[in-house]
Amino acid sequence: MKFDPSSTVVPDEALRQVGQPTPRVDGPRKTTGTAPYAGEWTREWAGESAGGWQDEAPGAAYGWVRGAGIAKGRIAALDLSAARAAPGVLAIVTADNAGALDQAPRNTARLLGGPAIDHYHQAIAVVVATTLEQAREAAALIDVRYEESEAGRFDLAAERTKAPLAGEDACTQAGDFDAAFAAAPVQLDATYTTPDETHAMMEPHATLAAWDGDRLTVWTSTQMVDWCRTDLARTLKMPKEKVRVRSPFIGGGFGGKLFLRADTLLAALAARAAGRPVRVALHRPLMANNTTHRPATIQRIRLGAGRDGRLTAIAHESWSGDQPGGQPETAVNQTRLLYAGANRRTAMYLAEMDLPEGNSMRAPGEAPGMMALEIAMDELAERLGMDPVALRLANDTEVDPEHPERRFTQRRLANCLREGAQRFGWAQRPAQPGLRREGRWAIGWGMAAAFRNHLLMKSAARVRLDAQGRLTVETDMTDIGTGSYTIVAQTAADLLGLPLSQVDVRLGDSDWPVSAGSGGQFGAANATGGVYAACMKLRDMIARRLGVEPVRAEFDGGCVRADGRRFTLTEAVGEDGPLVAEDGIDYDEKLSAQWQHSTYGAHFVEVAVHVDTAEIRVRRMLAVCAAGRILNPITARSQVIGAMTMGVGAALMEELAVDTRRGLFINHDLAGYEVPVHADIPAQEVVFLDEPDTLASPLAAKGLAELGLCGAAAAVANAVCHATGVRVRDYPVTLDKLIAQEPHAA
Ligand code: MOS
Repeated sequence: MKFDPSSTVVPDEALRQVGQPTPRVDGPRKTTGTAPYAGEWTREWAGESAGGWQDEAPGAAYGWVRGAGIAKGRIAALDLSAARAAPGVLAIVTADNAGALDQAPRNTARLLGGPAIDHYHQAIAVVVATTLEQAREAAALIDVRYEESEAGRFDLAAERTKAPLAGEDACTQAGDFDAAFAAAPVQLDATYTTPDETHAMMEPHATLAAWDGDRLTVWTSTQMVDWCRTDLARTLKMPKEKVRVRSPFIGGGFGGKLFLRADTLLAALAARAAGRPVRVALHRPLMANNTTHRPATIQRIRLGAGRDGRLTAIAHESWSGDQPGGQPETAVNQTRLLYAGANRRTAMYLAEMDLPEGNSMRAPGEAPGMMALEIAMDELAERLGMDPVALRLANDTEVDPEHPERRFTQRRLANCLREGAQRFGWAQRPAQPGLRREGRWAIGWGMAAAFRNHLLMKSAARVRLDAQGRLTVETDMTDIGTGSYTIVAQTAADLLGLPLSQVDVRLGDSDWPVSAGSGGQFGAANATGGVYAACMKLRDMIARRLGVEPVRAEFDGGCVRADGRRFTLTEAVGEDGPLVAEDGIDYDEKLSAQWQHSTYGAHFVEVAVHVDTAEIRVRRMLAVCAAGRILNPITARSQVIGAMTMGVGAALMEELAVDTRRGLFINHDLAGYEVPVHADIPAQEVVFLDEPDTLASPLAAKGLAELGLCGAAAAVANAVCHATGVRVRDYPVTLDKLIAQEPHAA
């Protein structure tokens, strides 16, 4: 079904479940241990009445991945004899015996290295044994002799000058930036650096693979079932139809599970070699260097403004690095759309480097890009002697600043800023930094705008209504901890006029219709759009069977009413089995060409910085978000507070430390890579300006989750500056960067 804003949007009054704060429908399974995750899967919970646990891959063995011990070079000799002779070992797969492998286009570096090594901890072998301990023990016995290359490129600052533009469209211009900047009465020219970051999701990458003849099934943890299936088939040079991917429960992804990774490929190869199912989980210390990460950036921002605060010149340039053939961190993208200003330039430069592969991590591009831009805006406000909220309001725009004929579908940035300022008590903020004290603590307030695009993506589903009037939804959509099960159930319940208890949702199986998947905050709005399309088709079938006009049929309370007649849904199904409908939502390209679909917000943060130690404490955070209809305020709020927490991590803690000599991220575990915990953030408040955006999706919803991260880190950093008067431009803001400059008042 093609999305048509004039005819394929559900009217507000038809929504009873959608919009309600429904607790997660998958909650009981997760809290009772009957929701199996990929790494623990041998059994599927079939339900009490169906006999409880069913073993789906009996006799599964364990695979342990060995990662390369150098960053760049080649394997000169690989001696497997001691490992082969170790107890319990069933097989060892390396590049020598894996057979020919293709490279899927979504992977930059090879998932199985050797003899050439492209990055540190690139997988070079998987050892299969009867137990996990045996596999681990044997993997350590593999004797590798490396020839290390002397020319590894590991330092972004050093590679920056050699970095070309990241492709033909990596530079945008409007007006005459140079002239306008030179003429601007108030100027800012500042450079910010953001570090490499790792997803650090709770559930590591894990896969159980089983072959049945030439057919392969993988139970894995992936955000994108169809990408995983397509890329696994491509890599193994086999038809996609012979690969089945199942990923019903996922313990977080943050973009790290968008793509086929080594656990899945190596589990498949290991299971083939061992002749039985094999389970492979990446151990935590392997994850930072073996999988993808958010690349570090160097960002130069130049802002020129009149004394009234109106921007006349905006330039944002960003440098990042990646493996050969990789992509830039798209840190400048939001700068093209967020503020008005006639003269503009953005550019992205990409350095070829030999660090592990960079790729999407939650709000890729915008997370570090909004951080730099919104700190630059804070610096500009300071120079102008203007309130930071007022500066943003003065530069709001109703049109795409590069293409004024394109409008935003709905843009409520100003409402978010005003609402947030009022709720936070912003009017009480002293304009000068460093003025507020509570004992030995300096108190600071900071804010930032939030902005993230909403993407229109194809998504499909199948619905089945059985003779008892139960509705089952099946789609390959994933729930990565986000609430997909719940919002899909709410959507289907409303469209068929059923209570939530009559709806079963089944997700994450490549046997089911291809959905948008989970990523880039595109999951909820598009996946529920696909469910809408399938449900509308089912309603059509039901109406026709009952001999009524589909458009006149009303679905409510398990019944269909039309033309003064009333039927139960079970009557419509009748004796001859379930009614099944499959359809998807698709969007005309003209819709996003004509309209800019984006989401908006405002972050407000209070921090305390100790005047003697420079210890930083977040005291409260507020986010106001405008992202179309809010499908479920509970799951939506959880998404936003999770993202805000990640913003605190980016501002104050998270950093993969690069060993620029040996080319690896040193702090590759959760002891060395710090992320915020509950105790770090005592109060988080989220407010939604819930307003349907009927140009965005059938439920008038837009993406939401990543919005909570975009700008959050800037608000924290701006608050630290307001507390101390010290501006740190090299992130994260850690106390060592503050303490030397902080005024230590007596
Ligand atoms: Mo998104 S980059 O898949 O968190």
